[in-house]
Amino acid sequence: MKEEHLPVLVEEVMSMLAPAPGSFQIDATLGGGGHTERILEATDPDGRLLGLDADEAAIARVDGRLRPRFGDRLVLRQANFRELREVAPDAGFGAVDGMLFDLGLSSFQLADADRGFGFRTSGPLDMRFDTSRGVPAAELLATLDRMELSALFKRYGEEPQANRIANAIVAARATAPVATAEELAGLIERVAPGNPRSPRSRRIHPATRVFQALRIAVNAELDALQDALSASIDLLRPGGRLVVLSYHSLEDRIVKRFFAAERRGCVCPPEVPICVCGKNPRLRLVTRPSLTPTADEIAANPRARSARLRAAERLAA
Ligand SMILES: C[S@@+](CC[C@H](N)C(=O)[O-])C[C@H]1O[C@@H](n2cnc3c(N)ncnc32)[C@H](O)[C@@H]1O
Repeated sequence: MKEEHLPVLVEEVMSMLAPAPGSFQIDATLGGGGHTERILEATDPDGRLLGLDADEAAIARVDGRLRPRFGDRLVLRQANFRELREVAPDAGFGAVDGMLFDLGLSSFQLADADRGFGFRTSGPLDMRFDTSRGVPAAELLATLDRMELSALFKRYGEEPQANRIANAIVAARATAPVATAEELAGLIERVAPGNPRSPRSRRIHPATRVFQALRIAVNAELDALQDALSASIDLLRPGGRLVVLSYHSLEDRIVKRFFAAERRGCVCPPEVPICVCGKNPRLRLVTRPSLTPTADEIAANPRARSARLRAAERLAA
């Protein structure tokens, strides 16, 4: 079957971004280009879009698929969205009308046996979005000690069996490294299979939380998100829209807190009677509290299951 990535909550994203002809848009997580394609269609004939992805394969794929239709209205850069503050102005997108973050990984990455994102893949356990930088997941499994592994699984995966899994990895690697996704998933199935009577355990693979934790650590995902949100506010024009799709509670918490802080503005402690910080609110919330996919969308695209959309508008402050 030909691999494809269905854009999540696409109608909701379009209605929140409301991209107009002639506008400047940034898709900070290009992936398969599903959202980008819709945005370029809606901004016809002269809107421009900057698409970023840390993964060079995503850039090449979307370039091949969409360039013939959209020509130089589509500007692509392989970059981490952490570098938005530099990359966007360099590409001519220093002030924009809309910005989208669709976090996590694409179906292409999940299906690619050489990347190690999927439980059943037999290639190296890598998990980097940008394979030219950083340390692959297998190296973390080979070098972190028992306590560090357990802390990582708790912090980024909220994994209740973190100690047990860390012990099993340390015991296993004394004989041979845990080098593939298949081996890691198999080890977790053996030592922490979950409760077969619990509906959640039947639906969700027992290795889900550990895989999430490793991916977050390998790509420093939460720090990158925090940095990119701060940059995005400075790049948005007044009235511009910021839309974020997150897929787990750690990501969503960062987005929610960031939106709340920028909506409030003032950072003075509660005991100070009159504001002395002078910070004005810079965002107005558009979704309150957030949007999630319909049952129909989840049935058609199970990857949308955990998606949560938050949108805000840049104020003139
Ligand atoms: C869920 S997919 C995006 C799918 C896309 N919206 C579509 O409709 O096809 C997320 C993409 O973001 C990329 N990504 C994740 N974190 C990133 C980061 N910090 N900087 C740049 N790209 C990132 C991943 O490589 C992946 O291709």
